[in-house]
Amino acid sequence: MIKSLGRLGKIQDSRSAMLVQDIEGSVGNYIKDVDGNVLLDVYCQIASIAIGYNNPGLLNLARSEKWVRASVNRPALGVFPPTDWAETLENSFLRVAPKGLNQVFTAGCGSTANEIAFKAAFMYQQTVRRGNKDFTAEELESCLLNEAPGSPDTKILSFRTGFHGTLSATRSKSIHKVDIPSFSWPVAPFPDLRYPLHENVEYNHSEESRCLDATEKLIKKWDSQVAAIIVEPIQGEGGDNHATPYFFKGLREITKRNNVLMIVDEVQTGAGCTGKFWAHEHWELDTPPDFVVFSKRLQSAGVYHNLSTRPPQPFRNFNTWMGDPIRAYQAEFMINEILTHNLAENATVVGEYLKEGLNKLSTLYPTQVSKVRGQGTFIAFDCENTEIRDKIALSMRQHGYDILMIFHKI
Ligand SMILES: Cc1ncc(COP(=O)(O)O)c(C=O)c1O
Repeated sequence: MIKSLGRLGKIQDSRSAMLVQDIEGSVGNYIKDVDGNVLLDVYCQIASIAIGYNNPGLLNLARSEKWVRASVNRPALGVFPPTDWAETLENSFLRVAPKGLNQVFTAGCGSTANEIAFKAAFMYQQTVRRGNKDFTAEELESCLLNEAPGSPDTKILSFRTGFHGTLSATRSKSIHKVDIPSFSWPVAPFPDLRYPLHENVEYNHSEESRCLDATEKLIKKWDSQVAAIIVEPIQGEGGDNHATPYFFKGLREITKRNNVLMIVDEVQTGAGCTGKFWAHEHWELDTPPDFVVFSKRLQSAGVYHNLSTRPPQPFRNFNTWMGDPIRAYQAEFMINEILTHNLAENATVVGEYLKEGLNKLSTLYPTQVSKVRGQGTFIAFDCENTEIRDKIALSMRQHGYDILMIFHKI
């Protein structure tokens, strides 16, 4: 255990901590620890830092009167929105709203934002089913007993090795789920592509078609309705698994054909790191997804959607904070920086450079570096031999890179 964690460990489970951070000493892309080590931060606080540590513009903003006031008067946004809330939303999240979506529901974290999307999908499907009529007395009574018809057996379909925080839809690692009750929701296969891509075009196409067929069969098979599917543009937590636009376009067509809503979880892929502000822009869909979920780099979480998926009654999709004005001010500043300095385009340039280097290493050391893949700076490679993998990770840390070293056994 890290010595300086002793005090914390007595009062909070700190077994996942990698280092104790010197916040003041961390600057830009470099994180400093309490022992004075300065590391190039390629892990970015679990992919949640967009414009570096102690950005001077953000520090200035944090000294402003509006920030100070918001920090000591946190509003319950759904009930008491402050005067500048509409303007703040327009200047921040709505400035980069995915094409075709014009509503934003702000939230505290990625898991909550996904749950908000699930709730909105369930409410939408049931509203359509009852023909936009009011609830029946039976529905209102039975939901309090967790019984149908008020609590219907509708489902969210997710993909193998997907991660969404919400446990019934998460499929990445057993350690997140074991011992916890889950809904019986369907899981579809996610393509297992072969690399290099250009040498495996035919195989990968048939693999993606297989997964699309399986997804549609699953949707049709369940006796109760699949209300929505949820998918990540790149499965991050599940091992950096990619699919091509053909797969995602196919998913959109399947959801349209079967009256199922599509939730794109951009919690980890959003805010420019893949070379576009939203990773799903790479797919060039004919119709936008029904929901796009964000968090992490944007500091504040939330869900983009359309008026059609706003529930007919208030207070149904609701919680106390519904986000935080401070985080929205922070997002506004960061979004402006990302757009003004073309940081998404820069991610493509830097990413290509990095991938080129990794591909060279892969040619020289194929057993150590394989399956080089990525979009923008969202890049990965495999190292099949776990002993060598651990050595590489340790050596990177010793050479000044802040990377996460969790070697999941399950
Ligand atoms: C794709 C994805 N969705 C949802 C979540 C959950 O977000 P949070 O940890 O903010 O609840 C994560 C977290 O890693 C994620 O990567």
